Amino acid sequence: MAKIFITRQIPKTGPDKLRASGHEVVVSEKDGVLTKDELVVALQGKEYDAVLCLLTDKIDDDIFIAAGTQCKIFANYAVGFDNINLDVAKVRGIMITNTPGVLTDTVAEHAFALMLSIAHRVAEADRFTRAGKYTGWAPMMLLGTDVSKKTIGIVGLGRIGSRVAYHAAKGFDAKIIYYDIRRDENFEKEFSAEFKENVDDIFREADFISIHVPLLPTTKHLVDARRLGLMKNTAYLINTSRGPIVDEKALADALSVNIIKGAAIDVFEHEPAVYSTLLDLENIILTPHIASATDETRSKMAELAADNIISALLGQTPPNLVK
Ligand code: DGY
Repeated sequence: MAKIFITRQIPKTGPDKLRASGHEVVVSEKDGVLTKDELVVALQGKEYDAVLCLLTDKIDDDIFIAAGTQCKIFANYAVGFDNINLDVAKVRGIMITNTPGVLTDTVAEHAFALMLSIAHRVAEADRFTRAGKYTGWAPMMLLGTDVSKKTIGIVGLGRIGSRVAYHAAKGFDAKIIYYDIRRDENFEKEFSAEFKENVDDIFREADFISIHVPLLPTTKHLVDARRLGLMKNTAYLINTSRGPIVDEKALADALSVNIIKGAAIDVFEHEPAVYSTLLDLENIILTPHIASATDETRSKMAELAADNIISALLGQTPPNLVK
């Protein structure tokens, strides 16, 4: 029997699976994110064989040292793993895993929900109605923009980006242009999509841009003032990937003076803080990093993180080992 620490309460499918495999599971009792010091204390001297951590945990060498040399794996409860220092994990021989695949549909749905909502001014119209401003149907009231048949720019054609493209092409008859470090000619054939070798062309040509790249030193502030300036003043930005990919101040500036028409973002540069100007703007929708937050998906993520731990503890290569 191995000992496993889970840094915060997650859906029971995860702990249940670990316990059913005969392991002892300890779940943090704190109602919230453990601070670095709290995480160190939670791990130090406890001899856990595995840790199931969250994207809100910053996992660096101090944490690996606290976990001890018997700890084989940190299984991240997220597809993104920018919260973990992979280089140090490698040096220490600790396996790192993530939860890809199971959240693809849900995140793509959320990206699309944001796209439709900002185009049709759904959140703004809701605020308008609740404020008692609806005094009768009017031909020019709260006019929005169609998504159908528009040009959708996908930045990052991984699982989620491809799924957003699928919805846009098949459901909304949209023209797909995309940028990725790898070209995918099969995708281009299937969706009549056009590859752009220079990401700037996506910013110039798209009516809606949906960001799906991981956070890396090379993608930080990929959306900056210059690229926002390339966008059409009728275009929209959607971000469900990671906050620091967008320079939030530059976005607020661009939205304030209508350099772009609108934005809808689920992730923030300094989460959970939101750049305060954004809170006062009508032409942006803000959701609190919930793109994967459905009952079904969060339960599957918990199971997948558990599967990764179970196979690592059996001495196998976990299915979602991050290389
Ligand atoms: C992830 O998995 O990386 C998302 O941001 C949260 O599910």
